[in-house]
Amino acid sequence: MEFSIKTLSPEKAKLGCVVLGVYQEKDLTAPARRVDQASQGALRGTLQDFSAKAGSTLLLRALPGIAAERVLLVGLGERAKFGESAYREALRGAALALRELGARNAALFLVDVRVGAKPLSWNARHAVACVREAFYRFDEMKSGKKAPAPALAEVVLPISSNDQIRNAVREASATADGADLARTLGNLPPNVCTPSYLAEEAKKLARQYKLRVEVLERRDMEKLGMGALLAVTNASHQPPKLIVLRYEGAAKSKKPVVLVGKGITFDTGGISLKPAGEMDEMKYDMSGAGSVLGAIRALAGMRAPVNVIGVVPTCENMPGGHATRPGDIVKTLSGQTVEILNTDAEGRLILCDALTYAERFEPDVVVDIATLTGACVVALGHVVSGLFANDEKLAGELLAAGDDAWDRVWRLPLWEDYQEQLRSNFADFANIGGRPGGAITAACYLARFTRKMRWAHLDVAGTAWKSGREKGSTARPVPLLVRFVLRHAGRK
Ligand code: BES
Ligand code: MN
Ligand code: ZN
Repeated sequence: MEFSIKTLSPEKAKLGCVVLGVYQEKDLTAPARRVDQASQGALRGTLQDFSAKAGSTLLLRALPGIAAERVLLVGLGERAKFGESAYREALRGAALALRELGARNAALFLVDVRVGAKPLSWNARHAVACVREAFYRFDEMKSGKKAPAPALAEVVLPISSNDQIRNAVREASATADGADLARTLGNLPPNVCTPSYLAEEAKKLARQYKLRVEVLERRDMEKLGMGALLAVTNASHQPPKLIVLRYEGAAKSKKPVVLVGKGITFDTGGISLKPAGEMDEMKYDMSGAGSVLGAIRALAGMRAPVNVIGVVPTCENMPGGHATRPGDIVKTLSGQTVEILNTDAEGRLILCDALTYAERFEPDVVVDIATLTGACVVALGHVVSGLFANDEKLAGELLAAGDDAWDRVWRLPLWEDYQEQLRSNFADFANIGGRPGGAITAACYLARFTRKMRWAHLDVAGTAWKSGREKGSTARPVPLLVRFVLRHAGRK
């Protein structure tokens, strides 16, 4: 799907569809008013059939005096409540309607409504993001006749073009490509999306985008002494991998941002077995890994002037005769020993060795992304991801990038007071800290491996996928990561 930026008049544009915004009070946006005038009030005449709630739509065909074949009215909700959410709802509603139409091209006359004090480049960026997301499909596992691809091939953003807006569209298109990858990796079943599959995907990206890639195998991990990662993979028949994928878009002297993604391709809990209900959703336990590959695809695709290294520890967490037992003590790559009191707290075990490994890249900053704790879902629900950081500036940058990308995070504490919950009588510390503050003690565990670096941790357990009828990966936090890396490099 192509996005172009050009000014058009809504009444004269010869397109398959013209999309116009209407507030719930039946206030017309400026382009809607023009179409209403050109059609001698035909547009206003339809409004009694239209709620104009944010994201609702009404399709009009063959309006008199209008060149476009169709006019799609989109509700913007109440004028007083209009903001980021309503704008994005409207875009999503419009895109879902466009997907069902036969129109080959359309113009979104929504993109020039002011959203607070946001620049129009923000509007353009989110228009691309929302439309691309609505057009995402995952049907490669369905047999039989597939629905034909949607007809819509060109979307016009009818605003006057400048460098900032062209950049925003390029950035958003590349980000959507990265999000599509993360989404598909998440949605693929765990018998397909194995650690080896993720490694092959990383190699494919390396070929496509000319990146450097390296995959550490089990024997490499053994030689290095990654006892924690190896403990998690013990009972799996799938070989573990540690993927290192590098995008070098800036001078060699520039220190890299290192992104570390949890890549548990299926989390049964191991010997501390999870209950059966909804266990299928633990295929999404590699969403952190998917978001790292997706973010790198995005940044490479837009040729961003940044250096980024993705580090992805990936394996399965299975029960079995060779499985790690509750009570086992292992030695991590850092040299610290851990008493594994619950084999279901496996994410932190693979991440701690990957974070120690990341030290060798002398990172500017390290950000890990993980579907780490059910406790984070209890604390923050499915709206925002949990943020933890040992550096104030880094925390601020991630919060701001999350707002900008509308892929928001909320900071939770990482105070030393919580560390005593990880006390162990037998090893340096344990891998669990009890029920109180479960998301925090998980982050505190990771903090013990990142003291030498500026580091942040994103717990995306509540945001990486949706359950129920809408079950599917959300590709979060790809938009946040891309925005963060760009802003961190000075691109606003
Ligand atoms: N992958 C899960 C976390 C998770 C659970 C994410 C549910 C999304 C929904 C993680 O490996 C896990 O099992 N964590 C345990 C930790 C506990 C044993 C300390 C949890 O949250 O229950
Ligand atoms: Mn687990
Ligand atoms: Zn897990």
